[in-house]
Amino acid sequence: LREHEEFTKVKNIATIELGRYEIETWYFSPFPPEYNDCLKMYFCEFCLNFMKRKEQLQRHMRKCDLKHPPGDEIYRSGTLSMFEVDGKKNKVYGQNLCYLAKLFLDHKTLYYDVDLFLFYVLCECDDRGCHMVGYFSKEKHSEESYNLACILTLPPYQRKGYGKFLIAFSYELSKKEGKVGTPERPLSDLGLLSYRGYWTRVLLDILKKHKGNISIKELSDMTAIKAEDILNTLQSLELIQYRKGQHVICADPKVLDRHLKAAGRGGLEVDVSKLIWTPYK
Ligand code: ACO
Ligand code: ZN
Repeated sequence: LREHEEFTKVKNIATIELGRYEIETWYFSPFPPEYNDCLKMYFCEFCLNFMKRKEQLQRHMRKCDLKHPPGDEIYRSGTLSMFEVDGKKNKVYGQNLCYLAKLFLDHKTLYYDVDLFLFYVLCECDDRGCHMVGYFSKEKHSEESYNLACILTLPPYQRKGYGKFLIAFSYELSKKEGKVGTPERPLSDLGLLSYRGYWTRVLLDILKKHKGNISIKELSDMTAIKAEDILNTLQSLELIQYRKGQHVICADPKVLDRHLKAAGRGGLEVDVSKLIWTPYK
């Protein structure tokens, strides 16, 4: 599959139909060769199987009995649910999700070895079922302390705070694991903007409430954000000074307030009390 991608890096599929949306694609995705002549593709919004023709999808929808992603519902708050899908137990679903995601991810080498990943699929639920909004993937075991491999909010749902919700969720999982985490690099422009926004908001909120000195290590323990990401974020906010060979956080209240005003909306909150999850073993 990767070879195929190297051959034809031209965007093939121009639009997809997914649930009630028709979505324009952004990038090339290495679908199997028989889809090469296909301008529009039809996805089952629940099992993510894809088809070339509308009639095929309609026939499929009559017999597909999924109404939500396969796997365990690990979070529910209001109409929002998060499902954990094990790529080893649901290989086809994992592969379909990767094909779909690649349409909106540029630089990422996609892993077709979905066995090694867990997929966290965020849904908006109603009486017709649980409709995928976005997802992130996570390696079952990461040597580099990555807590997120790929993140996507489907275009119709973008810019509504779901991205920050997914990022916050990935750090809540890391907290439950008792580990610090960081997203896999490289980040896309939109990915970097979203992470910068999340890190900034979380760190400013703590610094604002905290009395007295606090170290980067302490911030890292509280947030599960890797120390390096904290240092970079605080440096870009000009909240770090270098004294006697050490980085020191200088959180002047006026400067904090100025940054907080500029930091934008907080996004959708993750209600940790609604997360029922134990780390993968
Ligand atoms: N223009 C300017 N700023 C933006 C834009 C945009 N189009 N989109 C997001 N941002 C910034 C904003 O600061 C925004 O916060 P604000 O709305 O409070 O100002 C912040 O990012 C996050 O916004 P959300 O609404 O929480 O995020 P969204 O649901 O749109 O998802 C995501 C962000 C996942 C990066 C989305 O843009 C996406 O799926 N992009 C395509 C795939 C991609 O690039 N993924 C990241 C690859 S890197 C990796 O996977 C490790
Ligand atoms: Zn289906």
